[in-house]
Amino acid sequence: MNEYLPGLEGVPATRSNISFIDGEQGLLAYRGYSIEDLAENSTFEEAALLLLDGDLPTADELAVFDDQLRRNRRVKFNIREMMKHLPPSGHPMDMLQSAVASLGMFYAGRECLTDADACEGLDYVHEMTVKILARMPVFVTMWEHIRKGYDPVPPRTDLGFAENFLHMFTGEEPDPFLARILDVCLILHAEHTINASTFATLVTSSTLASPYAVMSASIGTLAGPLHGGANERVLDMLDDIGEPSRARTWLDRKLERKEKIWGMGHREYKVKDPRANILQRLVMEFMERRQGHVSKRMEVALALEEAAAERLGPKGVYPNVDYYSGILYDMMDIPVDQFTPIFAVSRTAGWLAHWREQLGDNRIFRPTQVYTGEPVRPYRPMAERGGQGE
Ligand code: COA
Repeated sequence: MNEYLPGLEGVPATRSNISFIDGEQGLLAYRGYSIEDLAENSTFEEAALLLLDGDLPTADELAVFDDQLRRNRRVKFNIREMMKHLPPSGHPMDMLQSAVASLGMFYAGRECLTDADACEGLDYVHEMTVKILARMPVFVTMWEHIRKGYDPVPPRTDLGFAENFLHMFTGEEPDPFLARILDVCLILHAEHTINASTFATLVTSSTLASPYAVMSASIGTLAGPLHGGANERVLDMLDDIGEPSRARTWLDRKLERKEKIWGMGHREYKVKDPRANILQRLVMEFMERRQGHVSKRMEVALALEEAAAERLGPKGVYPNVDYYSGILYDMMDIPVDQFTPIFAVSRTAGWLAHWREQLGDNRIFRPTQVYTGEPVRPYRPMAERGGQGE
């Protein structure tokens, strides 16, 4: 019998050359380029093309891709009408999953995956990649207005990816500082090897389902609180602690009850997540820009991190990407329930890169199990099973 490893910990699910994690050193690289270098020098559009095509693009390649993304921001009014009929109280991740899945009704063509002749002359994979990546932030920002009863703010083609996101979100001219912060956040969240949602990408891709179905499965998986949904809970946790001086006793109480500390711990990292370090620096930069306006949540977060280093550090549990991202988004006046959708906007680049890679060397996923149920047994007629039934 094969050994069963809960959560498939350490079990390779694929061969991939998209990203790399060294969990002992706290290193993350996309196609060989460190996340620190990309955060410092790149844009989300460039990082996305790097993930998709395998290397940093030339200026011309980037300009073409950027132009394609800008020209694919418009959303059909049927989808907008559909979104208007969704309950405003619903979670934006559920909206996003529905909206992306609905694209399959409007842009068919999955036959390209099984019959290349049927789609001759159409670079299906690239076209779908652009269609999906360009529309993800549009859905998220449209929903911000639709759920309040307003028409969405139309997209602009003269703005970059992050700038247009902020413009559509607020209806205002984007602040370059905030656009750069958002851009870095998008770069940091774009890819992370075979996490749960990317595993969902691989499994769904392997059936040759449409890329919309693939993205929809990935979004649904990211929504869980043990994955992308953790960043929403971090703010509640920091508010619950309230004061930096309470962090230590609060932590002790939680750990005694064997409860999770949100935004901490990671299957891959045994040190602090490198993305958390960059996000922490961005929060500090933001506070400096606000000239002394210190975020109480940040003070509490720093105190909790210090206390947790003593109690959880020996288990290799340190802040992950979700620990500081929520504080940053909150400072940008982004509502809490939109944190995970922004994560999804960014991670779409990685999911699509894995979709392409899976298609390039596909075999349908069909794992096995360790059966723990009853042996095969004779069927028992209802009359022999007891109970009150007449
Ligand atoms: N708070 C408290 N203890 C934690 C912890 C956390 N956030 N994360 C891990 N631990 C502890 C576990 O209780 C376990 O302790 P034990 O060996 O005494 O039983 C040990 O560290 C190993 O953790 P384990 O649950 O086996 O790790 P995992 O790889 O299965 O889970 C996560 C990884 C991310 C699911 C887990 O760390 C977690 O739930 N974190 C909080 C949610 C979160 O922030 N998710 C976003 C991830 S980017």
